[in-house]
Amino acid sequence: MRHYLMVRPSHFDVEYSINPWMDPGKPTDPQLAIAQWEWLRDLHVELGHRVDLLDPVPGLPDMVYAANGATVVNGRVLVARFHHRQRRREAAAYLTWFAGQGYRDVQQAQWHNEGEGDFLVAGSRILAGTGFRTDPRAHEEAAAFFGVPVVGLTLTDPRYYHLDTALTVLDENLVMYFPEAFTEESRRRLEELYPDAITASAADAAAFGLNAVSDGRHVILPQAATGLIAQLRERGFEPIGADLSELLKGGGSVKCCTLELRPAHG
Ligand code: ARG
Repeated sequence: MRHYLMVRPSHFDVEYSINPWMDPGKPTDPQLAIAQWEWLRDLHVELGHRVDLLDPVPGLPDMVYAANGATVVNGRVLVARFHHRQRRREAAAYLTWFAGQGYRDVQQAQWHNEGEGDFLVAGSRILAGTGFRTDPRAHEEAAAFFGVPVVGLTLTDPRYYHLDTALTVLDENLVMYFPEAFTEESRRRLEELYPDAITASAADAAAFGLNAVSDGRHVILPQAATGLIAQLRERGFEPIGADLSELLKGGGSVKCCTLELRPAHG
């Protein structure tokens, strides 16, 4: 059973622009945002996962993107240090929540990192993005804090500003990604590590198809990513298409709204 943390988009809006998807001039529909988010939460529960909720804080319109709040591995919690000042106050809510849940090691990061936006746990390693939000020094910090190898990957396209917009971990040994979002060197690294990886078309990447959550069998991803949906089916996964059009206006989708909580081993 997977265990997730989510934040209801009660105060969601696009009030500023910190990524190319955000246009504060475009209207949002708060009721629809909540309905789409509830659909995702209910789906996680139907699939047999546990979903905990962290209370949204007024004045923090991006807080629905729970994946950015922390990284949790083996029961240890590294709370994010947000790059943009507009989101910095979110960290305090995560520190308080995790401490209250009895997690043993809860610490805020020293260097900028935005949780599972740029840190994706893949089996025994962490794939770590940098280029836009996460300081490369945060990679070493995470390796030391969690005691696991961290593979650094550099993003180059501002539309794919977090690793979780350009790459999905499908299971311990398989990922899907958009090669054009990475430097040459990072592409080569991914080819070495994952020779069987699924690669996404530009259209599927732009539909946010890589902002997906996999439990190893079901893969929840934006329904517009039709090419990836077909590729996943061919590989024996069960893709489930999601419509999170409102949350896309903030530059996020399925994965951004889902933080995975990994319990202490053994
Ligand atoms: N508006 C948010 C930001 O730019 C979106 C975050 C999306 N989250 C993610 N895990 N990629 O920070």
